[in-house]
Amino acid sequence: MIGIGNDHAAIELKLAICEHLRERGIEFTDYGIAQGEKIDYPDMAEKVCRDVVGGKIDRAILLCGTGVGISISANKIKGIRACCCSDAFSAKYTRLHNDANVLCMGGRVVGPGLACELVDVFLDTGFEGGRHQRRVDKITELENK
Ligand code: RB5
Repeated sequence: MIGIGNDHAAIELKLAICEHLRERGIEFTDYGIAQGEKIDYPDMAEKVCRDVVGGKIDRAILLCGTGVGISISANKIKGIRACCCSDAFSAKYTRLHNDANVLCMGGRVVGPGLACELVDVFLDTGFEGGRHQRRVDKITELENK
């Protein structure tokens, strides 16, 4: 199960991605927010990321104006490896090498076509493991220092 959440600067982008996930038959939980609502991006990041860490959802897509604020917030939560992406190479390698569990994008940065392509790459790419597992383990150690 995938989770998706956004602040007020990425409502249109969220709707486009939800439509794309529906077309692909991918099950997802929409954490909001809708047109006319407002939320501070750290609050949305916390809500969604707690469910990733708690196992309610497997991975998440988080959106704000730049993708940056919400990714900084997400990465404060133990167990979250969030990547702010606006290119397919990063979206691919953050799965292959970092085992990223959250993809962040900016509603004021990427258009819906590119965003949906990045979502596909993020969801369809697996973690490579091997030497990368050791490095991901070191990220986890950093969280505990
Ligand atoms: C909200 O206006 C905006 O600051 C937020 O969406 C985001 O861009 C922060 O990083």
